[in-house]
Amino acid sequence: MTLLDRIAVPVPIIQAPMAGTSTPEMAAAVSNAGALGSIAVGATDAAGARAMIDAVRARTDRAFNVNLFVHAPPRREPARERAWVDALAPLFAEQGAIPPAELREIYTSFAEDDAMLRLLIDQAPPVVSFHFGLPSADRIAALKAVGCLLLATATSLAEAEEVRKAGIDAVVAQGWEAGGHRGMFDPDARDDRLGTVALTRLLVAKSGLPVIAAGGIMDGASVRAMLDLGAVAAQLGTAFIACPESSADQWHRAALASEAADHTVMTRAISGRPARCLANRFTAWGEANEGAAPDYPVAYDAGKALNAAAKARGDGGYGAQWAGQGAPLARSMPAADLVARLAAEAGFDR
Ligand SMILES: Cc1cc2nc3c(=O)[nH]c(=O)nc-3n(C[C@H](O)[C@H](O)[C@H](O)COP(=O)(O)O)c2cc1C
Repeated sequence: MTLLDRIAVPVPIIQAPMAGTSTPEMAAAVSNAGALGSIAVGATDAAGARAMIDAVRARTDRAFNVNLFVHAPPRREPARERAWVDALAPLFAEQGAIPPAELREIYTSFAEDDAMLRLLIDQAPPVVSFHFGLPSADRIAALKAVGCLLLATATSLAEAEEVRKAGIDAVVAQGWEAGGHRGMFDPDARDDRLGTVALTRLLVAKSGLPVIAAGGIMDGASVRAMLDLGAVAAQLGTAFIACPESSADQWHRAALASEAADHTVMTRAISGRPARCLANRFTAWGEANEGAAPDYPVAYDAGKALNAAAKARGDGGYGAQWAGQGAPLARSMPAADLVARLAAEAGFDR
């Protein structure tokens, strides 16, 4: 039985969890269309996750994925944080705003979120996925004990080996092309920047796990190519941003539909971790300044405040407009139609 057969998902496509962009409506539409929908709860707490899970379950009886951030808790370095806020101050001033006096750790890692663990044990979602690292063995055992199928992102063979040793069911091979945050466990480690094709093939050959390919996959031809490489499924994020069910704001949508989509940048300046974003004024500023960013998610507190100040003035140039290198191929249509289109292009019988 293949991985997706275990959860009765006939179409080997996963709608990527996208914190701030994917929604329960999107996840349910994708799952009802025969693929696997995902919600991302890394940017909320247990109560927020509970509401999102309820919203998915109200719309579908099919399997869905709940995605968690498992980042190492940030180092708090007051002098570095102060210097970062000072460096951003001119950008805030241009928006008629002042930067926050103190930066906060805006998201709690699942590694230390006991309330989230209790919620997941109680709710037992069919699939749980981890990004940025792995939780402890006891947390993994607790989720497996209630029947969750577990996935984790890897950007290298070494990370995939950790995923296998932890007893995770499948690995998401996230290539350098991918939109959003790079799932590397240690953002300060050397990064070989493996592309989706090389990484997928490497993990199929050597990881000993079912592989889900992610990064730059925008249409059925690319999905098919990943399956030909030995992947059991393809995970697509950017392809779903322009769907009506997404919560991407008007600036993100407009940039994706414009020539701005031709240029993406991997930057740490917005959140403190490498993430691929449509080129905008924040990524341009980051090219000279990102080396001084505090750790994720502390830097993100400043980045979100700057974006909020700019948006209040109608300026979308400082958004976390995450997107992968395939961005110019994005299509705007309901998520269920997109799944049907992808399946038809890939030649799947549904
Ligand atoms: C807007 C956006 C938000 C994302 N947020 C998350 C997230 O919350 N959790 C996660 O595991 N991956 C997240 N990702 C990464 C995806 O899981 C996936 O690796 C990526 O979308 C694949 O590349 P593609 O965007 O080129 O399809 C995000 C990607 C995008 C584009």
